[in-house]
Amino acid sequence: MHLFTTTAGLRCYLDRYRPGKEVALVPTMGALHPGHFSLIERARRENAIVIVSIFVNPLQFSPTEDFQQYPRQLEQDRQRCEQVGVDVIFAPTAVELYGNRLLTSDPSTQLTQVMPPATMTNVLCGRSRPGHFQGVATVVTKLLNLVQPERAYFGQKDAQQLAIIQRLVADLNLPVTIVPCPIVREESGLAYSSRNQYLTESQKAQAPVLYRALQQGQNAFHGGERDRTILIETVKSELASVRDIQVEYVELVHPTTLMPLDQVEDKGLLAIAVRFGSTRLIDNIVLQYRQPIVAIDGPAGAGKSTVTRLVAHQLGLMHLDTGAMYRAVTWRVVQAGIDWDDEPAIAELVSQCEISLSPSGSEDEAVRVWIDGEDVTQAIRSLNVTSHVSAIAALPTVRRELVKQQQRWGCKGGVVAEGRDIGTYVFPDAELKIFLTASVQERARRRQQDLKDQNQGDVSLEQLEQDIEKRDYRDSTRALAPLRKAADAIEINTDGLTIPEVTERIVTLYKQKLFS
Ligand code: PAJ
Repeated sequence: MHLFTTTAGLRCYLDRYRPGKEVALVPTMGALHPGHFSLIERARRENAIVIVSIFVNPLQFSPTEDFQQYPRQLEQDRQRCEQVGVDVIFAPTAVELYGNRLLTSDPSTQLTQVMPPATMTNVLCGRSRPGHFQGVATVVTKLLNLVQPERAYFGQKDAQQLAIIQRLVADLNLPVTIVPCPIVREESGLAYSSRNQYLTESQKAQAPVLYRALQQGQNAFHGGERDRTILIETVKSELASVRDIQVEYVELVHPTTLMPLDQVEDKGLLAIAVRFGSTRLIDNIVLQYRQPIVAIDGPAGAGKSTVTRLVAHQLGLMHLDTGAMYRAVTWRVVQAGIDWDDEPAIAELVSQCEISLSPSGSEDEAVRVWIDGEDVTQAIRSLNVTSHVSAIAALPTVRRELVKQQQRWGCKGGVVAEGRDIGTYVFPDAELKIFLTASVQERARRRQQDLKDQNQGDVSLEQLEQDIEKRDYRDSTRALAPLRKAADAIEINTDGLTIPEVTERIVTLYKQKLFS
């Protein structure tokens, strides 16, 4: 692992080691805890190079805040980053990052800053921390420009910061994907924070009230409550159950725009800031009603597509047939007469086309598919589409666009989807994740039977086993959408099980999980 304190060192490293590799940035202020490590570990899984920045940014602290006292423990952070496979720590000094711009009172050398919309910085923490989010937006922009990562990882813990950075990246067309990561909590429910170190024992014993209060709000929401005043009062009354707390705010805003909500329509962000003595703590929860999502991943040949169709039918959910979506865009590319290797033209076309799916109504039939208003259910099964679909699906731009469309479906929920990274990447918050697998021998036997059924000759089992092993290796090591089992997925080995048995097992798991 490398540690650079200068931009020169960082730049030189990137020039040398980056070509052909995807880079992740995890910006932090150090004093790393399990919340930070959840971001780092996710970045490690999804990228070839992981860079963690550790910089206590003076620009985001006001003169009355804890900049001087903020915990700094670089040596401990360095050792722990090394253990989890971080490639680079970038830990510049303020002078390295800002030159003399911060110290100057000379207006002619003032620092250029990034100014997020006032509607996003005036609310929630912005009320008591003027200038804070401008300081965050400025340093994050600088770090993104220095590292130019493919992906940057941010915690939902700082929901306002996350929303502001997502807006910033969209508005300024910064070429990076922001990856939001869920809040990591201690067993007590207290969200990890570098500032928890400041709490006395008695304050620490009271602090789990934040999460308890948010859960009360969430329970009320799930019980049908949508009204701002009642949801906020529910949270406040639980907060009032501990002695040493001073509530700074309890707010209900839209998670993306941060505009205050009178009623929760699709989604709401319930956010809290409190003080225990001089220690300020924040926490939040997203209120969202949507139907459940079932994600089914696994290696090729484990029976995913048939099982997914049957599970969707039995549960009355939509089969989000991602394969059909790739076929539909392939059909569209064929129609438009675009060259297979003209990726920019394909990207342009795919980003403009609109795919819709609807259930077929019968468990034996595939979903119905439209693209740009045209019913292509039959057309996408043609030989021409079949022979080109994998080349089109392998284009990163096509995949990015289709994942966006799939996630739009996911907002409404009520879908069952299958693939290689549905539970890890496309729908990481799916209610039920299944990893469907089978031994290589079993999959080879099934494949041999399929080929026989289709009169496609007699290939030896040995040959088929070798092909499957190669494919598994390719699928789990590929750069784009590698096969992965989500940590919270339930594995089902389908050896010796029939398709109806596998379907039944998933349907039962769904009912147990959602209705018990
Ligand atoms: P810091 O507070 O060190 O947090 C770094 C990242 O870790 C942020 O994206 C934050 O949301 C995430 N994080 C912190 N606690 C978490 C928890 N319990 N669960 C999940 N994620 C958690 O946020 C900053 O630093 C700074 O403002 C920074 C973005 C680095 C700019 O200076």
